[in-house]
Amino acid sequence: MEFLIEQSTKIENERSTAPDSREVENFVTPAKILETGMAFWASKTLLTAIKLELFTLLGEGTLSGAEIGTKLNLHPRSLYDFLDALVALGFLERKGIKEDAVYCNTLETSLFLNKTYPSYVGGILEMANDRLYPFWGNLEEGLKTGKPQNEAKTTDRPIFEAIYAQPQSLELFLNGMAGAQACNFVALANRFDFAPYNSLCDIGGANGLLSVSVARQHPHLHCISADLPPVAPVAERFIQQSGLSQQIRTASLNFFEDNFPAADIITMGNILHDWGTDVKKMLIRKAWEALPKGGALIVIENIIDNDRRHNAFGLMMSLNMLIETEAGYDFSMHDFDVLAREAGFSSTLLLPLAGPASAAIAYK
Ligand SMILES: C[S@@+](CC[C@H](N)C(=O)[O-])C[C@H]1O[C@@H](n2cnc3c(N)ncnc32)[C@H](O)[C@@H]1O
Repeated sequence: MEFLIEQSTKIENERSTAPDSREVENFVTPAKILETGMAFWASKTLLTAIKLELFTLLGEGTLSGAEIGTKLNLHPRSLYDFLDALVALGFLERKGIKEDAVYCNTLETSLFLNKTYPSYVGGILEMANDRLYPFWGNLEEGLKTGKPQNEAKTTDRPIFEAIYAQPQSLELFLNGMAGAQACNFVALANRFDFAPYNSLCDIGGANGLLSVSVARQHPHLHCISADLPPVAPVAERFIQQSGLSQQIRTASLNFFEDNFPAADIITMGNILHDWGTDVKKMLIRKAWEALPKGGALIVIENIIDNDRRHNAFGLMMSLNMLIETEAGYDFSMHDFDVLAREAGFSSTLLLPLAGPASAAIAYK
């Protein structure tokens, strides 16, 4: 307590001294504040290009601004500002200028934002554009009321039922999930030692991408991708297209009512953060019950650092759970460890995956 008072007095004293103007010029600038405050400009420029399928249109080729304008039905007024902003942001390359210019994809956009490639990650960004961007406009209301700001505002139905009511929003959501986790599932398949295990059940498996990513790398493993009934046809189609129907089957399951199928490994990708503490506990306990001794629960999420200072993406994902869910929140490894041990697991381990995501693993 004494330490806190001392600290706050120090901060007050520091604030009451006007900063030296050379200090402001050399070390302290508002650049980060302004850049973050206006970050939605860059975000919306990229999201709109994805929505327009500009990167898919360009593919491996080059097009002039006029050709792009005609094919995407864009008004000439801001055509070059839009394309050159994408150049300046690092999402397009260009030779020449304005009417004499030709545009092409960068290495990254040609690999990850061309819809015709399996490496496409734009699903989550399509969802960000169509759903999250308007919903985040109400963050302030969410913070004041503690209530979700998505479809739940206009329907009494549970959120997944509301999203899955329309085939279009079901597909948008499932593709979005796949785009967000694709790199993590590949990293998990590469980094976790699956050799000692024979079976895996992915709870809330969406389109089956986790099972596909892991099964492809580990042919000895038999996988079940389990989710709500409307999801099964989408997952079955994707698994079949991936040529892995012999190794992966789907199961329809409501995790509030049903027990989990028995498996050596239970995985949950971005499931626990959808729910409040009681449901988190119930799901972890159901995983424990479905596993044999030595089995592993693997939770793939943007696990927040224990100090809650560094994983900004994980912390903002938790804000996204405010926007999207009734009681969900993201959590640290320490939080997970407490819940896992309470459910009966004997040890836990953090395995970093891609970017801000990790696998929080609990062993029975
Ligand atoms: C946020 S998504 C995560 C999807 C996927 N695991 C991933 O990592 O991208 C949550 C998933 O949980 C599923 N889900 C929601 N409620 C469920 C329930 N009661 N029983 C089974 N699955 C459910 C949804 O259909 C959705 O696929």
